[in-house]
Parts: sequence; structure tokens; C-alpha cells
Amino acid sequence: MSWPNNRLTQLLGIDYPLIQAPMAGGMTTPELVAAVSNAGGLGSLGAGYMKPEAIRQAIAAIRQRTDRPFAVNLFVSEPMKEEAQRVISANRLLAPYREALNLPEPEPLLSAVADYTEELTVSLEDSSEMWVSTGANYNEQVAVLLEEAVDIISFTFGVPCDTEVETFKKRGITTMGTATHVLEGILLEEIGIDIVVVQGMEAGGHRGTFIGSAEQGLWSLMTLIPVLADQLQIPIVAAGGIMDGRGIAAAHHLGAAGVQMGTAFLTTPESGAHPLYKQALLDTTEMSTVLTKVFSGKLARGLQNRFVAELSAAEEQLPGYPIQNALTRDIRRAAAEHDMPELMSLWAGTGCALCQAKPVAELMRQWLDQAAQCLKP
Ligand SMILES: Cc1cc2nc3c(=O)[nH]c(=O)nc-3n(C[C@H](O)[C@H](O)[C@H](O)COP(=O)(O)O)c2cc1C
Repeated sequence: MSWPNNRLTQLLGIDYPLIQAPMAGGMTTPELVAAVSNAGGLGSLGAGYMKPEAIRQAIAAIRQRTDRPFAVNLFVSEPMKEEAQRVISANRLLAPYREALNLPEPEPLLSAVADYTEELTVSLEDSSEMWVSTGANYNEQVAVLLEEAVDIISFTFGVPCDTEVETFKKRGITTMGTATHVLEGILLEEIGIDIVVVQGMEAGGHRGTFIGSAEQGLWSLMTLIPVLADQLQIPIVAAGGIMDGRGIAAAHHLGAAGVQMGTAFLTTPESGAHPLYKQALLDTTEMSTVLTKVFSGKLARGLQNRFVAELSAAEEQLPGYPIQNALTRDIRRAAAEHDMPELMSLWAGTGCALCQAKPVAELMRQWLDQAAQCLKP
């Protein structure tokens, strides 16, 4: 493969094989997405938590700022079941944080979840367990992407179903899936996804693992890229701990057609990250990230802070995703409003010590020059 043009750049219609990772939770502002696309990469809107109408507005805002390709990312989640008792215990553990932030105690159990989620439909089957479905919002999100004729859709936490993949193909939409181990990569190719994003254990944010346990999806990128590059026909994109041109070149040498970078974009002026989150990333050392389930019930990598330190002993007793995510939502929101990074989720990859506070165009120029230098024959 020759740098920078390859199958990936052709498929996506971009100049450089560099994708800005979708980052749900307000990080991927239209300004960030458009700046990356305008610089010749692929900007991605992290729309997993967004209401369908908000997605439509964000797409319009991106289109006002760029006429180049960009992607929209969704979460594919299976309906899940949780014991009511775990929710009650989690609320007990969260009570001191709510009290410190002047947040009301969630009561009764059903509204404890319903009040704190917008995308979940909840029903209590009996007194000992509850069912949570996450399907409804996803279907409406997909409908908006089809109506808006988005060119590229990426997915994490699972795989779209056969009929959806068929629809995307008929509409000429390019699809990207997330794999954290070999089997997931093979499955994504088999169902007809066009590009596999290989998420190494170094990656910031949630693990995309959807087959096996989260721990089985903790492969280093150095191992996973060549193994998957040998197995798959479709292009693979490396994600996790890539912070500059050296990482881009290394991924290319290992067999990736491109890279997806998240943390490295968080400290740009275009990113929507909270100012204290940006500062924490800039102050960080290479020892700062941990894998934790305490914020959401799903394994994710972020900066160590008070919330993580205090709740990690109870981690295995907490409800699963997305219930724990819903239970901590008001705490995270209030912590951001009160400038308390010690109670916010500060997702970050292992390379966060290399974060720079520079505009997107300048950073991308720097990384791409460095990559070209490293890849000189
Ligand atoms: C703040 C943050 C939010 C993220 N949200 C998403 C998301 O919504 N969808 C997704 O597919 N990946 C998400 N990721 C994971 C990225 O796609 C990617 O795997 C990761 O950023 C790569 O590692 P790096 O952060 O070290 O570059 C997120 C990552 C971060 C840091």
C-alpha cells in the first residue's frame, strides 16, 4: 500500500487515511468534524447518545461547514436484563455523590432508571429483575441517517442486522464496524461491513467488544493489526493510543490501511470536551489511564480520578451497561456544571501524555508530515 492513497481513502473519498474517532457525549462538535474533513481526513459525529432530531441538526451544522465526506457513529446494543437488587445497591453507593451535588434521590426503583435515561424503555417483569430495551432510539437514529442520506456510518458495541446492511448497500452507504478481537473482525466482514476499525486495548473510551467478555477483547494493537490484516480482505483501520505521525506510520507498517484517533483530538479548540477535561489531559502522565466499569457498567479507558478510585472496589456488583450509565448520568452532568473533574468520566487512551492544545488543521499537518517522513522509502 502506498502512502497516503489506498483502498481506504478511495472508499471514503478522503485525501489522507486518518479518521477522527466518533466520541459520544458532546466531544465531536460540528466544528471538530468539519475541521478534520476539511483538512483531508474523515471527521466523525459520535451520535450514540443523541436524540434523532439532534442528530439531524448536527448533520446540517456539519454540512454548513464542509462539503467533504464525514461519518456518523451509532451504538448497536442488545436488549439487556438486570437484577433490581443491583440497581438498588448502586443507588445506595451513588447517594453520597448525589447529596454533595444537591441532586435528588431517585425513587422509586422504576423511575430511578427511567428518570435518568432518555433512550431506554424500562419495565419491571417481577420484583427481582428488570428488563431494559435499547432498541427504540437506535431505529429512529438509523431512520434519520437514511433520510439525511449520510454517506458513511460507523458502529460500535455490536453489528447491524442483515436487512440493515442490505439497506445500507442499496443506498450506497459505506459502513464501518468496530472489532476488538479476531472473531469480531471476521464476523463484520462476513455480514458485509466495508471497513473494520480495530480497537486495541490502548484505546480511550468504551470497549466495543460484542463477542465474549470485555477482558477477551483486550488485545494490543501491535498484535491485532497484523493478525487481522492477514485474515480479512476488507481494509482495517487501527485505533488506540495513536497520537502522532509515528503512530500513524507504525500502524501502516503493521498492515492497517488507516488510523482512527480519538484522544489526540480532545484537546483541540474545536473539541467539545469540558475545559477541565482538556486541562487534565494536558497535565497527565503516561501512568494516568485505567480500565473501569464504574461510570457505565461497560469497560472503558479513562483518567484515574476520585470517582473511579472510590467505586472500583464495588465494580463487579454494579449494574451492567446501559443501566449504570443511566444511574450516573445526573452525577456526571452536575459535576461538569460545577467544574468537578474528580466526578466526571475523563475518557482517554494510553497515549494521552502526548496530547497537544493546537487547532485541528495545525495538528493534522504536523502528524501527516511526520508520517510521510517516517514512511519515506
Ligand atoms: C471520549 C471518547 C469517546 C468515545 N466515544 C466513542 C463512540 O461514541 N463511538 C465509538 O465508536 N468509539 C468511541 N470512542 C473510541 C474511539 O472510537 C477509539 O477507539 C479511540 O478513541 C482510539 O483510541 P485513542 O483515544 O487512544 O485514540 C471514544 C473514545 C473517547 C476517547
